[in-house]
Amino acid sequence: MADVWVAPGRINLIGEHTDYNDGFVLPIALPHAVRVTAVRRDDGVLRVRSRQQDGVTEVAVADLAPGVVTGWAAYVAGVVWVLREAGYDVGGFDLVVDGDVPLGAGLSSSAALESATALAVADLSTLDIDRFRLAHLAQRAENDFVGMPCGIMDQSASLLAREGHALLLDTRTLDTAHIPFHVAAAGLTLLVVDTRAAHRLVDGEYAARRAACHKAAEVLGVPALRDLTEVPTDLPDELLRRVRHVVTENRRVLDVVDLLRAGDFRAIGPLLTASHESLRDDYEVTVPELDVAVEALVASGAHGARMTGGGFGGCVIALVDTARVDGCMAAVREAFARNGFTAPECFTATAAAGARRER
Ligand code: GLA
Repeated sequence: MADVWVAPGRINLIGEHTDYNDGFVLPIALPHAVRVTAVRRDDGVLRVRSRQQDGVTEVAVADLAPGVVTGWAAYVAGVVWVLREAGYDVGGFDLVVDGDVPLGAGLSSSAALESATALAVADLSTLDIDRFRLAHLAQRAENDFVGMPCGIMDQSASLLAREGHALLLDTRTLDTAHIPFHVAAAGLTLLVVDTRAAHRLVDGEYAARRAACHKAAEVLGVPALRDLTEVPTDLPDELLRRVRHVVTENRRVLDVVDLLRAGDFRAIGPLLTASHESLRDDYEVTVPELDVAVEALVASGAHGARMTGGGFGGCVIALVDTARVDGCMAAVREAFARNGFTAPECFTATAAAGARRER
């Protein structure tokens, strides 16, 4: 029987647009995951198909190069390519992809696919690569093969997270800490609202934010915005607001971690909402659907709510008293109907386990 590797999607509790500034992030892995069934082939061919999508991709691994494979299969091919580029002896495979991470919802279905593929290929090729390096390689596959200049958060969450815990990652040192996140025991639920807002201008805007941060760091004479403890004053308005988001967001991550460690779960709510406001006003990566969802959730009794992921569409998370979950969901649905938006998908999330071999 073929072996199966599973890697989860993620939501980020807080620490948005900090990972490419050497800052802090705090994601959890979702129960939703990508499953890759894989066997080795001895003819040097990579054959990829999906149970959710039509079509088969077949390519000789020796011919892999950026641009050769496009569409969702590029995330798989990119991982095989990057491992070969890094000098590992990797041949052909048959891979079948299956999964239930909603696509295009900002829940890192692509990082989950990369992570499951990376584990499968490393195991079947008997490569001894630790999970930090695998996360880096998967990120490189996305940066250099797919062409999306993402940071290290999503792949790290998928590969390193633990059940019942949020993953505190210092993206500069790669130090990690697993922070207990048993909100159910405190009568709380983490609610996820997929706004189903089509991602708009995602790649270009993401790259533009990244470039602005690097420019600001250069102007301010620091290696990365992570090195700032105070918000500078002598920058042009737009750049100043970008920097202010990053500086205050890094602080919020550490404050949330302190509260979680103290078991004071409800108290993280206002920090979540403050993060959203900063992403809306200073970083300018929200869209009306995200803002309306956050407002409706907070107005209907959520302790806090914020967009999660890159923005420009995707999901909102909210920390809600379990007894109020139905009321909060109804409030978001009503607000969306009132605004003429597509009906959102609501579900609850728990902190699930990171990637693993299933059999
Ligand atoms: C996307 C990227 C991540 C991170 C977030 C924003 O999810 O893939 O690396 O930058 O956006 O926090």
